[in-house]
Amino acid sequence: MKYNELIKEAFIARKSSYAPFSHFHVGAALLTSDGKVYRGCNIESAAYTPSCCAERTAFFKAISSDERDFKAIAIVAAAANTPQDKYEYCAPCGVCRQVMAEFCDLDEFKVILAKNEEEYKAYSLNELIPLSFTGKDLD
Ligand code: THU
Repeated sequence: MKYNELIKEAFIARKSSYAPFSHFHVGAALLTSDGKVYRGCNIESAAYTPSCCAERTAFFKAISSDERDFKAIAIVAAAANTPQDKYEYCAPCGVCRQVMAEFCDLDEFKVILAKNEEEYKAYSLNELIPLSFTGKDLD
């Protein structure tokens, strides 16, 4: 699947965002190695701390469906009612980076931050979470 198609999926995911407190709507689309896409949106709570980012929603949907091999995740985000030409790149939070590091190859997996289907930047996890703590450190 091409990155522009994955970004399109992230925009569809963003439509499901439940963000009545921040009004910041985020969509993520996680691509598995065999070409399946899991969409995720951010889900907020009046108690704030139970909130979940779009990226982790996508990962937890995929992991709980027995997926273990991932290629890339596309992320799009903007405040509610932002016009299509005013999106900025949105990088994942530290907690989401840690979850990605749990399940993805630090060099091969790509995190795609997109403004639209044509304008995006792709990063490896080694770039986004250098010196990461992973299961290897427990050996
Ligand atoms: N959020 C995400 O879903 N992903 C990110 O990469 C950054 C932040 C959400 C969490 C919260 O619902 C809202 O955006 C404002 O922080």
